[in-house]
Amino acid sequence: MRKIGRRSFVSSMLATGAAALLVPRSSKAADSRIEVLINEPVGTISPNIYSHFVEHLGGVVYDGIWVGEKSKIPNYNGIRKALVDNLKKLKPGVIRYPGGCFADQYDWRDGVGPRDKRPARVNFWADTRYKTTKAYEDLEGGPQKYESNHFGTDEFVSFCKMVGAEPYLAANVRSRDVRVFLEWLEYCNAPANLTTWSTERAKNGFSEPHKVSFWGVGNESWGCGGDLTPEEYATEFRKYTAWLPTYGVPLKLIGSGPNGGDINWTRKFFEGLALKGGRQINKLHGWGLHYYCGSTGQQVANEYTENEWYDLLERSNRMETLIEDHWQVMGEFDRERRVKLAVDEWGAWHKQDADVPPGYLYAYAGTLRDALISGINLDTFQRHADKVVMANPAQLVNTIHSLFHTYEDKFILTPNYHVFEMYMPHAGATAVRTEFIAPKANFTRLDAQRKEVSANLWGLNGSASLRDKVLVLTVVNPHHNHARETEISIRGAAIKSGESRTLTSTDIHARNSFANPHALEPKTAPMNANGSTITFQFPPASVTRLLLNLS
Ligand code: AHR
Repeated sequence: MRKIGRRSFVSSMLATGAAALLVPRSSKAADSRIEVLINEPVGTISPNIYSHFVEHLGGVVYDGIWVGEKSKIPNYNGIRKALVDNLKKLKPGVIRYPGGCFADQYDWRDGVGPRDKRPARVNFWADTRYKTTKAYEDLEGGPQKYESNHFGTDEFVSFCKMVGAEPYLAANVRSRDVRVFLEWLEYCNAPANLTTWSTERAKNGFSEPHKVSFWGVGNESWGCGGDLTPEEYATEFRKYTAWLPTYGVPLKLIGSGPNGGDINWTRKFFEGLALKGGRQINKLHGWGLHYYCGSTGQQVANEYTENEWYDLLERSNRMETLIEDHWQVMGEFDRERRVKLAVDEWGAWHKQDADVPPGYLYAYAGTLRDALISGINLDTFQRHADKVVMANPAQLVNTIHSLFHTYEDKFILTPNYHVFEMYMPHAGATAVRTEFIAPKANFTRLDAQRKEVSANLWGLNGSASLRDKVLVLTVVNPHHNHARETEISIRGAAIKSGESRTLTSTDIHARNSFANPHALEPKTAPMNANGSTITFQFPPASVTRLLLNLS
């Protein structure tokens, strides 16, 4: 790793656009600087940036959440108790369900009524991803292959209630029609015993309406959700959302937005909406954005070189550009900025661990690298609190960027969980502008021709928020072995006291496992913090939260 000199320090300052800030003079040892401008609010951080995603995929629903009422695994009405107890602590915003691509093939009517009467279907994922592999045979008759529908709308809404989250249901725009969507709305929201479907709901034990506000109009309509063009999807969207009955529940509709940087999808969709007049845009609460970094299931979660460590962190950092680029296009059509971004699938996607059963598609216990990716993404959403109204890592448990890992009676919190716990005080607070100046991290990666090329990533980044007199500053130090001695200045206030909480390890591959569930956990320490400028050392490979009480 190249050592960085003063010349490149100054040029990296220029590159961050923070050249107007002074190089610290007061502290000789500091090589980095953070300026928190508490009088420059960005916006309120939506608590729904702390949302989640649950799909009938691998071990997410069956085993992860639903263990069944008769299970020896402690449960609340069939729902894994440990999951409920720990998720509740995070004060989750909304939970998206039932997919994902699964939603594009799902009929909600299969998942209500007496469980023993619900139809069994072949699960979408077993039928597509697995079909040509040996793993398909290895799935045998498990719920990951044959969907029992034992977990459906009522169980999901009950789960949301248990953890204090709002349900967010994704309608099937690919293989079911508008009427099926309207009936799902009726089942969930119509007053008891006034309509056929609300009578059915009451018969199923839920006389009170579920009051579902958040509805996704399709999922990935550019791909598994129908392979539509953006123009075609705009037409479908208008059709699905014309004259929707509200049953007194304010509806918050999320459009099936772009795949990563596909600006054309965003532009053509909004153009297509506008064909029927400017008011169409008012139907949208959020425009979904999906972005995964990682190998989409090709590389093992805890095997990487130092260069690959940086490579993935840098790829996750692209979220910032995606938000800015799509936001800019949306602004061409939505001058009043009514529609915000809902990043309803994000995370790092690796290969399934070798020691999990075949049905647990993309299940692995993530590492410290994934935890930094959580910090990078949450900080990005917060720096853009004026643009992002919701964000959901994919997925809650046992697949991709999960917060929990389970197998039968085994249950652990992944490093992602700890980052969510650390960042919680940001939710609902006011994001304030913050500048970071630090020597960049340099690394090499392979380009498309597999040639080694130089690349770099910022040396420190994060976000800050203010509520009453408490300032929360979260910071990621991506450098694998270089601590950052940092001068932190609070412009417009002084610090009375503070504490730090840091997640780090000397092993960049560290993670929790069933055998060692507490290997990687954050540590809290009091801080010697006084005045408007303090110094703090951010350890290498770390995510840190500073809670600073202002006078
Ligand atoms: O999260 C896994 C899958 O990734 C989802 O089903 C789909 O929407 C996306 O492609």
